[in-house]
Amino acid sequence: MKFFIDTANLDQIAEAQQLGCLDGVTTNPSLMAKEGIKGNQNVINHYKAICDIVTGDVSAEVISVDYQGIINEGKALVEIHPQIVVKVPMIEQGVRALRYFSDHGIRTNCTLVFSVGQALLAAKAGATYVSPFIGRLDDISTDGLGLIEEIREVYDNYGFQTEILAASIRHTMHIVNCAKIGADVITSPLSAIKGLLKHPLTDIGLEKFLSDHRKSQ
Ligand code: G3P
Repeated sequence: MKFFIDTANLDQIAEAQQLGCLDGVTTNPSLMAKEGIKGNQNVINHYKAICDIVTGDVSAEVISVDYQGIINEGKALVEIHPQIVVKVPMIEQGVRALRYFSDHGIRTNCTLVFSVGQALLAAKAGATYVSPFIGRLDDISTDGLGLIEEIREVYDNYGFQTEILAASIRHTMHIVNCAKIGADVITSPLSAIKGLLKHPLTDIGLEKFLSDHRKSQ
């Protein structure tokens, strides 16, 4: 399973990269705004800075919602750096654009996916990644992880190559459960990734090893 970090914060991206387990980054307009990135040139520079830190895929989202606008933006985004993957919303014009990008060798991440039907359409249109938002489904008392399971089943039925990128991860157990049910990728806040490190018996065991070592000196 690939680990992506879901942020535009350069310090957190660098910390995740240094951990040695990072496979990529996902951003979105909200995450870019949170870092105060405004204006076309600043956005481009920020994507370049992210690509300089990580070695894997970096999802950059289009703002346009019309077909030609999505195509133009996507083409401009992939010119920034070879690691850029064009993030396209799950709307009708987005699906058309996914097909265009796929036919032209441009990698895509279909975002804002909340149903199996949407995931099926994204795969049919040749999306590289599909991003079901599991946390936002949980927020409205529906089953985010259940959606990942259903998409896994459908993709496996037909051998779709589109990778299931579990997004809107809220906590460490989301990551563990996504791994158990076969998500190809998770994109997560750094805190949930670092949560995987934690076990009280590790802390107790290490303290005992170190105190025994000190006593033997
Ligand atoms: O980047 C897309 C997704 O991960 C957003 O997550 O926490 O805003 O629901 P969240």
